[in-house]
Amino acid sequence: MRPATIAIDGPAASGKSTLGYYIAQYLNYLYLDTGVLYRAVTWAALNQKVAIADEAAITTLAQELDITVSPKIQNHHHEEDGRQYTVTSDGQDITWAIRTPEVDGNVSPVSVYPGVREALTRRMREIAAQGKVVMVGRDIGTVVIPDADLKLYVIASAEERAKRRYEELLIRGKRTTYEAVLNNIRQRDKIDSGREAAPLCAAEDAVEFDTTAYSKAEMFKAIIEIVENWNTQGNN
Ligand code: CDP
Repeated sequence: MRPATIAIDGPAASGKSTLGYYIAQYLNYLYLDTGVLYRAVTWAALNQKVAIADEAAITTLAQELDITVSPKIQNHHHEEDGRQYTVTSDGQDITWAIRTPEVDGNVSPVSVYPGVREALTRRMREIAAQGKVVMVGRDIGTVVIPDADLKLYVIASAEERAKRRYEELLIRGKRTTYEAVLNNIRQRDKIDSGREAAPLCAAEDAVEFDTTAYSKAEMFKAIIEIVENWNTQGNN
């Protein structure tokens, strides 16, 4: 027996999406990185010049935006460019557009709005209902699918997370500094953990997974062990 639904939560750049994507491939499960939905709403707001402070307008945007997330790992030139999936909004490929420092700087305030969360959580649950799924985010084990078979809470030091995210942004040619990335990560952690609706926190029955000192290979080995031993830990 293996867990059918896996919920992975944790703070920014903790390694949760690398782990989630890997284990979904390993198990041949559907993978959904739910941060993508919050990022897509934020990107659309910036793009349409909707003020981030306008809760009603942002909520309407979240309710009406046509977002798709598909398992395509190639861009429209049929090249693999490091994407784990393709995100579109109203038909436009926004896979990389949602990963800019501008979106990083505005996504947490957008994610505070209860109406935004309600609209996006509904979409996530529709996807989870299809069965075998690995879902990654901030409130998956606590709010979105609290009955998930396996819950992981992935953490790492803020400095290590900033280093990883800074390197990712550099590779993609984004102009930023380590200090700016660290500040953004600290700011988002604070807003995400402190908000009223579905704050970032570990579910009571989550397994804590600290990736600070782990290489990717070590992370992958550890998660396979957790998944393969799931049944022997008193679950069924
Ligand atoms: O990849 P990274 O950890 O930097 O962020 P993400 O997972 O893409 O999430 C971006 C933002 O969306 C977070 O900082 C949260 O504010 C919000 N989010 C959320 O509130 N609930 C989720 N389930 C997923 C993301």
